[in-house]
Amino acid sequence: MSSPQNDAPSPSSKLIFAPTDSPTAPHAHQFSASPLSLPTLSPSPLTQFHTLFTAGQRAHLPQPETCVLSTAALPSGRPSARTVYLKELDDRGFVIYSNTEHSRKAADLRTNPQACLTFWWAGLERQVRVTGAVERVGVEEAQRYFDTRNRESRVGAWASRQSEVLKDRKELEERVKKEKERWEGKEGIEVPGHWGGWRVVPEEVEFWGGREGRLHDRFLYTREGEGWRIERLSP
Ligand SMILES: Cc1cc2nc3c(=O)[nH]c(=O)nc-3n(C[C@H](O)[C@H](O)[C@H](O)COP(=O)(O)O)c2cc1C
Repeated sequence: MSSPQNDAPSPSSKLIFAPTDSPTAPHAHQFSASPLSLPTLSPSPLTQFHTLFTAGQRAHLPQPETCVLSTAALPSGRPSARTVYLKELDDRGFVIYSNTEHSRKAADLRTNPQACLTFWWAGLERQVRVTGAVERVGVEEAQRYFDTRNRESRVGAWASRQSEVLKDRKELEERVKKEKERWEGKEGIEVPGHWGGWRVVPEEVEFWGGREGRLHDRFLYTREGEGWRIERLSP
């Protein structure tokens, strides 16, 4: 890893420097929502997550199911991250659906089946990080979710080799047209072999709550036998 550079260019030469909402409020945003405290936490991070998630829904946060899925390829160790939607949660873990063959996440997970999901709910001043091994969702279960998608999205899943280079938009449109014709008149659409779900089986779940002066609350759940150990972390 390279060491820090000694030169210090003037802030005015930077395109972005200590950005804030307004020139009259020169300090970074301060958090002020209610504290996260140990006695109020559920013994299970899944229940705790669900409580927060439903609070987000009640508060009409925009798409609280939105999260960042981070993966890392081996042997390079090069990380990559992208936004996805959480689609299912039960006591086995957190499920997302995607292209499981052509995409970069698929390539990463083939070499290293470990992942991290990060949720940021600004309106609640809460962040959650879920870390763990990844397993594939069974085909039957994936089909059940696939059937809830609108027809266009189901056909689109067949047509797209996600993350592969396209010559132009027309190439994609032609693939979609072909798939539309193939599925014409058929009520059900089979889940494509290159599409499905991954479940992140949580090994660690960290809940972060914003506090004033950047002295935030953080609680880390770590799997321990059948239960979970909970520890407070430094901000
Ligand atoms: C709000 C939002 C939600 C998304 N949800 C998904 C999703 O659930 N599944 C998915 O495969 N891609 C989703 N995407 C697209 C991904 O961010 C990404 O572009 C795609 O999965 C290819 O990533 P990869 O090449 O790194 O695997 C979403 C993008 C945005 C902006």
